[in-house]
Amino acid sequence: ADPKLLVICGSLRAGSLNRKLLDQAVAAFGAADVTYANIRFPLYDGDLEDAEGIPAEVLTLHGQMQDADAIVIATPEYNGNISGVLKNALDWVSRVKPMPMGDTPIAIMSATGGRTGGVMTQNSLRQCLTPFQPIVLQGPAVAVASASSAFDEDGSLKDERYTKAVQKLMGKLRAII
Ligand code: FNR
Repeated sequence: ADPKLLVICGSLRAGSLNRKLLDQAVAAFGAADVTYANIRFPLYDGDLEDAEGIPAEVLTLHGQMQDADAIVIATPEYNGNISGVLKNALDWVSRVKPMPMGDTPIAIMSATGGRTGGVMTQNSLRQCLTPFQPIVLQGPAVAVASASSAFDEDGSLKDERYTKAVQKLMGKLRAII
C-alpha cells in the first residue's frame, strides 16, 4: 500500500503560497495516500474544552496524525514566528491523548514574502513540535523567499535550487518511513 502522507498548511487562505509549496512537496514525495489537514479550529479555550470536550475536527486531525506514516508541514512566517492558526492547532491536538506524532517523521518548510524565506519561523516550528517528540528532518532547508513571485503559472518553483531542495527533503522523508 502507498504510504500515508499528512499535509498541514499553517495558512488558511485559499491562495496560500505555503499550500502551493506543499503541492510541490506532495508531487516530489511520489505515490502516496495524501490527506490535507483541516486546521480551521476555534481558538483554544479551556472553558470550551470543559463544556463541550475536544472539538470533532481536532479529534479528526489527531486520528490523521496517528495514522500518518509521514507528515509535511509548511508555515508562513508572521513577525518572525509560526502562524497563530498552526500553533492553535498544535495546542488543541496536544490535549488529546496519547500525544500524536511521537516517532513520526516530519518534514518542515516555509514560504514567505520576505527575503529569508522563513528561516526564523522554521526554528520556531521545531521548538513547537518538540513536546510531541517527532522525528523532524534537519534538512535540507526549504525556505522559499519572495514567494509571491517564486511559482510559475503551473505551480512549479521557478528557481531550480528550491525544486532540488524539495526533492531531496521529500526523498529523505520517504526513505525514513
Ligand atoms: C507577514 N509576512 C511576513 N513575511 C516574512 O518574510 N517575515 C515576516 O515576519 C512576516 N510577517 C508577517 C506577519 C503577518 C501578520 C502577515 C499577514 C504577513 C508576509 C508573509 O510571508 C506572506 O503574507 C505569505 O504569503 C503568507 O503565507 P501564505 O498565506 O501565502 O501561505
